Amino acid sequence: MRLISPPLIRREQIQKKVSELAKEICRTIKIENLYVIVILKGAIFFASDLLRELPPIYSLDFIKAESYQGCSSSGEVRITDCHISKIEDKQVLLIEDILDTGLTTQKIYNCLIEHSPKDIRLCVLLEKKKSREGVTVLSDYVGFFIEDKFVVGYGMDYDGKYRNLPDIHIFEPW
Ligand code: IMP
Ligand code: MG
Repeated sequence: MRLISPPLIRREQIQKKVSELAKEICRTIKIENLYVIVILKGAIFFASDLLRELPPIYSLDFIKAESYQGCSSSGEVRITDCHISKIEDKQVLLIEDILDTGLTTQKIYNCLIEHSPKDIRLCVLLEKKKSREGVTVLSDYVGFFIEDKFVVGYGMDYDGKYRNLPDIHIFEPW
């Protein structure tokens, strides 16, 4: 197992990008009516930094999803915890750490759309450059596009480890 150094993305770059994303979000949606939903666990650090750069929002909730075994998606997404208040006619902002296959986001999006929100926007810190079969949801706000490599840090884990690293590193499990 190998944590590649130097980091792929350093904490200073993340901080700067988070501020830019917050500005872009403020420019493009009405924050005072914003219903934010954070996908756990990976997006925890990203969301808490991003949200502190936004003016007061309307509401904040969390959905917990699991699909990864080691370094790859099992293809089956389990929503293990879903506490959502009424999002009918609300502007929703979904915050996710990383878009890989897109299956997690697609499943959560399909689930939320049934509750008739006014609109759902997707904000991801990282998006892997790859094609996504059977996935129609696109991200509206992206921090960094990265190569199709497994990464850890700033919330992202390998089997539960490395989430609290302040920088983002490529991780090789072999
Ligand atoms: P997807 O469903 O394949 O798009 O993956 C979504 C979820 O898998 C993300 O929310 C992450 O929690 C996790 N994930 C995807 N790629 C990585 C990675 O490179 N490192 C750590 N977690 C990842
Ligand atoms: Mg995640």
